[in-house]
This record gives sequence, C-alpha cells and structure tokens, in this order.
Amino acid sequence: MDLSQSAELFEANRRFIPGGVVSLNRRVEPEIAFVRGKGSRVWDADGNEYIDYHAAFAPYLLGHADPEVDGAVRRALDDGWTLMGSGTTPWEGRAAELMAGCVPSLEKVQFTLSGSEATYHALRLSRAYTGRDQIVVMQGGYNGWHDEVACNVMNPIEQVGPRVSRDEYPFLPMSAGMPSGVADRVHVLNFNDLDAVEWAFKSFPVACLMSEPILQNVGIVKPKPGYLEGIRELCDRYGVVWVMDEVKTGFRHAVGGYQSLAGVSPDLSIFGKAIANGYPLGAIGGRAEIMDLFIHPDLSKRVMIAGTYNGHPVPIAAAIATMEKLTREGEYLYPRLEAMGKRMEDGLKETCAVFGVTATVARQGSAFCLYFMDHEPTDWHDIAEHHDMARDLRYRRALIERGIYQFPLPTKQGSISAAHTDDDIDRTLEATREVFRSGV
Ligand SMILES: Cc1ncc(COP(=O)(O)O)c(C=O)c1O
Repeated sequence: MDLSQSAELFEANRRFIPGGVVSLNRRVEPEIAFVRGKGSRVWDADGNEYIDYHAAFAPYLLGHADPEVDGAVRRALDDGWTLMGSGTTPWEGRAAELMAGCVPSLEKVQFTLSGSEATYHALRLSRAYTGRDQIVVMQGGYNGWHDEVACNVMNPIEQVGPRVSRDEYPFLPMSAGMPSGVADRVHVLNFNDLDAVEWAFKSFPVACLMSEPILQNVGIVKPKPGYLEGIRELCDRYGVVWVMDEVKTGFRHAVGGYQSLAGVSPDLSIFGKAIANGYPLGAIGGRAEIMDLFIHPDLSKRVMIAGTYNGHPVPIAAAIATMEKLTREGEYLYPRLEAMGKRMEDGLKETCAVFGVTATVARQGSAFCLYFMDHEPTDWHDIAEHHDMARDLRYRRALIERGIYQFPLPTKQGSISAAHTDDDIDRTLEATREVFRSGV
C-alpha cells in the first residue's frame, strides 16, 4: 500500500502544526492524509480508497457529504444566512424547535459548536442549580476535553487499580496543565454499578452525574437492565442533576436519542456529532427550570453562556436538514441501519467462529465493536482485563491495508451510515476473513 504522499504531507504539516494533527486523538498509525469523502468512502492523498467506519468519530450518520445536508448549507449561504451575532434568527429557532420535537425531555435548548462546550455548560448549570461543587463521571466514559471530565477513558488496569464497588477510582487526567484541586471535585465510578452511585451521592455534595447512556468511547458498553432507571431514581432521591451525554448516541440510535429507546428522562442532555452530520454543532437541553438559569434575573444566579459563533448558520442549516431528513425518513432509515448492523454482527461472529478466534461483537444499531474476548463487556475493567488490545490493533491495521478504515486504536466504535450498502458490509467481512486467514 502506497502512503508516500501521506508521508510527505505529514512531514510538511509537522513544520507548523505540532505532530501535524489538529486534534491529539487523530495521532495514530498508519499516518494517513485524507483528501476526500463521499457517502461510505474516503480517499487519501495517494488515491487509496477506503470503506469508512470511523466516520470522523461518528458524526456521519447519513454518510460523508450527504446531498440534502450539503444542499441546505449551500442554500443557506446563497440566501444570506451569515453570522449576525446580535439578537436571534429564524433558523436557530427552527433548529431548537426540531430538537425539542424530537427529544421529549428537552423543554429548552441552547447551541454550541462542539460537544465539549455543551458538557462544560452542563457542569455550570448543575452547580448553579444545586449549589454543590462535585461531579460524578464514569470510568471508560468520555465527555469532552475540558478539566474535570477529561479523565479515565482508556487507562491500563495498573493505573486504574482493581475493581471496586462503593468506592471510586483515582482521577487520571488526560492532560497536563489542569489546575490543582480538580481531582477533589470529581468522582470516577464504574459504569453499571448503582451501589457506587448511591455511595457517592450519600458521601459527597454531588451536583451532577454526567455519563453516556452507552459507553461508546471504549466500543459499545450497554447499560444493564434497570441501570438507567436506577440512576433516575437516585438522582431524584439525592437532588442530583442527571446529565445524559448523548453526543454519540443521540440521533445515531433514534431521533429521540437513546433515552427514548431506554424510556428514561434525564434532567439535561447533551447532543453533538450526528445532529449535524459532520458539521460542528453541539447542543444542551433539558428541563426549563434548569435551562432558564441562563437568563436568571438575579445576576448572581445567572449562568453565563456566550460564544461568538454559537448557533452559526452553517452548522445550524446542516442540523435542520439532518433532523428533517431523520424525522421524515427515520421510519425506514433506522430499521435499515439496524439490518446492516446485524449483517455486520452476524458476519463477524460467523467469521470468528470459522477461524477459531475468541471474540464477541457488541452492537447498538449501526454502532459496533469487535472485542477479542469471550463475553460482552459491562464496564472498562472488563475490557481492560479481558480484551486482547494488541490483536485489536493488528486487526485494524490489517483491515486498513485492505481498504477498510476502522480507527486504528483498540476498542474504537465502528459506525455504519445510511450511505453504506450490504455490499460494503460484505466486502468488509471478506476483508476480515483475509485478515484472519493471514494469521492476524
Ligand atoms: C460522548 C461524548 N461526549 C462529548 C464529546 C465531546 O464532543 P466534541 O469532540 O464535539 O467536543 C465526545 C467526543 O467524542 C463524546 O464522544
């Protein structure tokens, strides 16, 4: 596989960009410079074509460069939807109305440009609402890059320590440069462990519990039956704000978010990624009583939300088109995604069985992960202790050599889009057979 142009671009870009990448998460091997995307495909600088399951960390639910979404963006530009930066606009109102129409727990909505900004605002709102400082997050969960939540995603077991219940894990920051004292305000618990949640709520002044409903930054780790209902009940009992981070699950699994499938109602929800099919948008929404702290008449109680580019018309136009398409076509689009996901799951399981590979496939709809372990994981400890990370990495790199792009980092979710076809899935399964045949 020729990656010489990629190598040249990396070398050139490293002159002015540290590492040649603009998000640390994109620093992986093989180093590839991508130049084009369309539908289920991406192309690199050397002309290699890939069936893409990375989907830029999952926003592309409709596929790269969806004609309807991109058409709406072009129309918005032609119609003079420029950034006004004063007052309101019809289009942000339309986007908020669509969101509230899709997700029943959203009485009020605000827009940011990224998921991280939205989770940041959720912390402030929760603290202002409860008058408490401390927060609960999950081991193996990811809620953005800012202090307090940028911690404990994929740490090796030696750092995390043995599994605990009714206790917390050490705060393991993902970045240097956080101020001292951050760890004192953050409690990192095991996903799927309600006893730990109750212990933390009883023991500390907790403002909010922030968590993905499915851990989708370490593959697919689903909530056990009753877990999300249990969180609702405990948050109610202890006056804690439940912030459901739907940045990865929202719109990917249902227009009502994963919360609509689970039948639960968080206090605040965070959206991003699939909401605008690849354009930069984040959203925070939820109970009016909490959201209205953004306009509290008493300045000492008002929570600040600001941003020159908040509600920028380009991502807003993309979000409107995406949500309109998903609400209009969801009835058959989601079942089709489910069918392709099932085809992938069944095919991978069968292939593993044929080649005697110990593995399991965890999947929710169009999002899947092949784990080299003999059971579906229930939390990060389970993965860290049982999943063959080295084999996972070799497998992903071998697939890339065969024109299948799954992010070359162990446990990263595969994302099927509406632009994929059964033929894409079958070609992926054929590549998987080749990889196992080659002894990887
Ligand atoms: C669950 C979850 N929350 C928050 C974020 C942060 O979103 P962004 O990268 O748009 O800031 C991510 C990003 O991967 C995510 O997966």
